[in-house]
Amino acid sequence: MFNKRVLVAYYSRTGTTREVAHVLAQNVTCDVEEIVDKVNRKGIFGFIGAAYAALRGLPTQIENTKYDASSYDIVIIGTPVWAGHVSCAVRTYLERNARNFKKVAFFSTASSADDDKVFIDMEELCAKKPLSVLRITGKKVKSGEYEKEAKKFIGEIIANQNKG
Ligand SMILES: Cc1cc2nc3c(=O)[nH]c(=O)nc-3n(C[C@H](O)[C@H](O)[C@H](O)COP(=O)(O)O)c2cc1C
Repeated sequence: MFNKRVLVAYYSRTGTTREVAHVLAQNVTCDVEEIVDKVNRKGIFGFIGAAYAALRGLPTQIENTKYDASSYDIVIIGTPVWAGHVSCAVRTYLERNARNFKKVAFFSTASSADDDKVFIDMEELCAKKPLSVLRITGKKVKSGEYEKEAKKFIGEIIANQNKG
């Protein structure tokens, strides 16, 4: 029996992580929070600034959030990979909220399938081990070939709900 309150919180610059967040939300009853970066990340200068800030581990300004993360049993956090690291908006969200999280799970989207430091960043910021992690490439998101992985990820979260 799975009757935990779940929040899916994500940041997306160009829509890929948003799409995965919405597919996850089709597989579990949850609220969905979009984390909004107040800094303009558009265009080449936006890209360079984002890569630099992510690499240096800099926070950003984010819009006020809708949901109180402390009232959820499990928070599933999604980020695009920026320069091998967590995006600035998710870093800031975690710096503000992670101390109130009970259980966490992480997902990321990236253009390459190479290893990166994203889940290490997120685990450090949350000071918690995730119940499960999911890493999807942009190519898979475009082709829609990740439904099985998304289902498996939610299945692992449910199976591990009492761990972590
Ligand atoms: C500033 C910046 C840095 C990026 N760095 C990486 C990277 O190190 N590795 C990678 O595989 N993809 C990298 N990407 C690609 C994104 O992670 C990928 O396109 C992601 O799916 C975008 O998600 P979104 O559409 O939700 O913003 C980078 C993108 C940006 C904007």
